[in-house]
Amino acid sequence: MASNNGAMRLVAGNSNRALSEAVGAYLATPLTKAVVRRFADMEIFVEIQENVRGADVFVLQSTSFPANDHLMELLIIMDALRRASARRITAVVPYFGYARQDRKPGPRTPISAKLVANLITRAGADRVMTVDLHAGQIQGFFDIPTDNLYASPVMVRDIRERFDLSTLMVVSPDVGGVVRARGLAKRINAPLAIIDKRRERAGESEVMNVIGEVDGRTCILIDDIVDSGGTLVNAAEALLLQGASDVYAYISHGVLSGGAVKRLADSKLKELVITDSIEPTAAVRTARNIRVLSIATLIGEAIGRTASEESVSSLFD
Ligand code: R5P
Repeated sequence: MASNNGAMRLVAGNSNRALSEAVGAYLATPLTKAVVRRFADMEIFVEIQENVRGADVFVLQSTSFPANDHLMELLIIMDALRRASARRITAVVPYFGYARQDRKPGPRTPISAKLVANLITRAGADRVMTVDLHAGQIQGFFDIPTDNLYASPVMVRDIRERFDLSTLMVVSPDVGGVVRARGLAKRINAPLAIIDKRRERAGESEVMNVIGEVDGRTCILIDDIVDSGGTLVNAAEALLLQGASDVYAYISHGVLSGGAVKRLADSKLKELVITDSIEPTAAVRTARNIRVLSIATLIGEAIGRTASEESVSSLFD
């Protein structure tokens, strides 16, 4: 019988089968047969149905909605692999949920991103791979190698194909996102504007100050997450009020909770472009102003390079 001897294996949870299969197709490696199902009381049961002893296993699972179920699936899959003697386990988490809870916002509150990092490590991960972490320093919450990939090359390719670059202005929707937006602006050689949200007095609504000359420009908002859509809807209005000709948004992770898809469809945002780090719902797929770019090639290439111990960072040079 053939031994694995470090051979690459891909195991997928249920969060994003389409992306996992696309990664498998890119790597010409079919997903390892595994059952990830529920008992009647909704406990999760996992059974890896192929020999993984000695294998280099990549577990693909975004901890997206329902975040707790998908996180638990990831942990249990890794436990099963560890007990089945996989040689190395990499948790590939294209969307790392709980990342926004990366510090104590007040007394007696948790740092849930750190707790999740601990859980992933204790469940058996030897490495972690993720995409556009909400805050880069979350990498330091892990004491195992952690690759934070960037979706920007995929976005830059799309922007180059669709826009006249000389008319563009890249915009950060808040002061916290400036580094991310500046990185993309540099890649397409476009100027940068910033929206400074301020609440002058408690109880008064937020004032949006646009720092930068956006009049007559096609604005591209850059952010890591779109959740309720409120940030983008308000930013688009503020930019149009300052004379922007159109407003688009390129956002890595389409969390799109609650009524976000409708809120965005009813807004002045011309188009929202997200990646498939989170599996798009039917509402997202059919929305009038949402388009999805795939990061399957990016993740596939990073997995291939990790397996053959080549540089991953050079993917972003
Ligand atoms: C916040 O720090 C993030 O970068 C996003 O700006 C935020 O999560 C977007 O949330 P929403 O779409 O609910 O305004």
